[in-house]
Amino acid sequence: MLELVGVKSGYGPIEALKGIDLQVGEGEIVALIGANGAGKSTCLKTIVGLLRPTAGQVRFCGQDTLGLKPQQLVAQGMSLVPEGRRIFGDLTVGENLGLGAYLTASRAQVQLDLAYVFDLFPILQERQKQRAGTLSGGQQQMLALGRALMGRPKFLLLDEPSLGLAPLIIKEIFAMIQRINREQKTTILLVEQNAHLALKTAQRAYVLESGVLTLQGLAKELLGNKEVQAAYLGLV
Ligand SMILES: Nc1ncnc2c1ncn2[C@@H]1O[C@H](COP(=O)(O)OP(=O)(O)OP(=O)(O)O)[C@@H](O)[C@H]1O
Ligand SMILES: [Mg+2]
Repeated sequence: MLELVGVKSGYGPIEALKGIDLQVGEGEIVALIGANGAGKSTCLKTIVGLLRPTAGQVRFCGQDTLGLKPQQLVAQGMSLVPEGRRIFGDLTVGENLGLGAYLTASRAQVQLDLAYVFDLFPILQERQKQRAGTLSGGQQQMLALGRALMGRPKFLLLDEPSLGLAPLIIKEIFAMIQRINREQKTTILLVEQNAHLALKTAQRAYVLESGVLTLQGLAKELLGNKEVQAAYLGLV
């Protein structure tokens, strides 16, 4: 579904990605783990067209995305839940979810999508009329995820969904991430600093260090890998 070949990207003179080769197959959950500043968010921003690669290629469903705007990639089925959630605090929960449906043509489909989101996160239904800014951090993450699911994306990109949340809420959200993948067959690229959680959730994973991919493999194998254990899992 997604293929990066030799992708370089960054911010003016700062090259944050130094030639990345990465694939995500249809139906997979793939994790991208790495420390602070490794380039994980840059990688997601480049995939969704917010940053333009300075070299290499990003292919989505077989098509080179060069020159496509973020909104065109959304229309083709990409949906990013950015770092820090970025919900609209002054709008209600319902209005935030409505914004995620702006490309859905039929009202009936919007209702179906909404029903699915409420089934995943019943608290969002209870809080429909509440201002989103007054939700707890965990509820805001659920809302950001729910909003991204409106319109049934085929490819979901998640930037550190566990950030700043309590363990119980994280568990709940990650169970839903796996459920979305299982039920909707949604392909997922999961970026996490929490390597243990990411490797428990994903089938495959890549390790990013200072803009370079240093390791990749089955998530299970990486959990048992000595280097990963020492650098990312606080073991050894
Ligand atoms: N808007 C920006 N302008 C300039 N440099 C940036 C910008 N955003 C990120 N960088 C730099 O690019 C590099 C990669 O940053 P990035 O945000 O992709 O890391 P990350 O892996 O997502 O880190 P974190 O886990 O802290 O979110 C870092 O050196 C960072 O300082
Ligand atoms: Mg980041």
